[in-house]
Amino acid sequence: MTQIKDCTALITGGASGIGLLMGQMLLERGAKRLIVWDANPENIETARTSLAPFGRVDFDRIDVADTEAVISALSRLKADGVAIDLLINNAGIVVGKPFLEHTHADIDRTLTINTGALMHLTRALLPEMTARGRGHVVNIASAAALVSNPNMSVYAASKWAVTGWSDSLRQELERTETGVRVTTVLPYYIHTGMFDGVRSRIIPILQPKNVASRILRAVEKDAVFLHMPTIVRFLPLLRGLLPTRALDFVLNRIFGVASSMDNFQGRIQTSQDTKGSHR
Ligand SMILES: NC(=O)c1ccc[n+]([C@@H]2O[C@H](COP(=O)([O-])OP(=O)(O)OC[C@H]3O[C@@H](n4cnc5c(N)ncnc54)[C@H](O)[C@@H]3O)[C@@H](O)[C@H]2O)c1
Repeated sequence: MTQIKDCTALITGGASGIGLLMGQMLLERGAKRLIVWDANPENIETARTSLAPFGRVDFDRIDVADTEAVISALSRLKADGVAIDLLINNAGIVVGKPFLEHTHADIDRTLTINTGALMHLTRALLPEMTARGRGHVVNIASAAALVSNPNMSVYAASKWAVTGWSDSLRQELERTETGVRVTTVLPYYIHTGMFDGVRSRIIPILQPKNVASRILRAVEKDAVFLHMPTIVRFLPLLRGLLPTRALDFVLNRIFGVASSMDNFQGRIQTSQDTKGSHR
């Protein structure tokens, strides 16, 4: 079982949304030290103020797409004697447009931030965790890893890839008894602003506090997967049982999944936002 009390945690994209809430909850549950990496300086300043009452937080403006910056930030932490017990790979972006409206830069940036960056950071940190015989890596994927709806093509691809990689890694680490755990998280839409404008016909949009707290509970239990809400768990079963057109009917005509992104706005981009950001 992973202990949150006295742990040192690193959260990417930890200055907003569920990353910020998970940071606050980790401190409330007795984490010794929280390291937040985020690319957006405005979010960092807001988070600095809101997390100050809860405990020690070290902020670093890191774009996780920049592998060299990631590796040197990890080296600095190591040189300062910081050993990370819990890594939450949370930073992510969405473009939210039909595939043909993506620029080539949109495609590359989404795949780099949502997929490649998780692999590079984990690859750089894992040797320390395995040497210590403990650690926990949490990868925030999405329910979009199990269902591909319109206007989410590249985002869905990035999250399918993360899910496959994350669970393969989990099995490797278990098979070799490293003591390092991996949890893959697949939430439906969450009210954080990242997906502002989406509509959900039957399944309620998730509340960020509830999501953050369930992720931490999953960490404590060393859960392999966390699907939110529970119905998301059954998507692979439905896919196996139903012919594709019947599945399309159920998801699109009944649950309204195909039109859920029709009014997507996402976040309003600020001057300080990350390059090639959310829209
Ligand atoms: N919001 C949803 O509906 C939803 C649903 C399923 C999964 N998710 C996933 O949950 C995670 C968190 O989402 P959220 O809703 O809290 O989003 P958010 O936009 O509130 O927070 C994301 C944070 O990541 C940071 N970030 C973006 N690119 C970065 C980069 N290159 N380097 C470092 N930091 C970067 C942003 O500055 C922001 O502070 C994402 O991986 C997202 O894909 C979100």
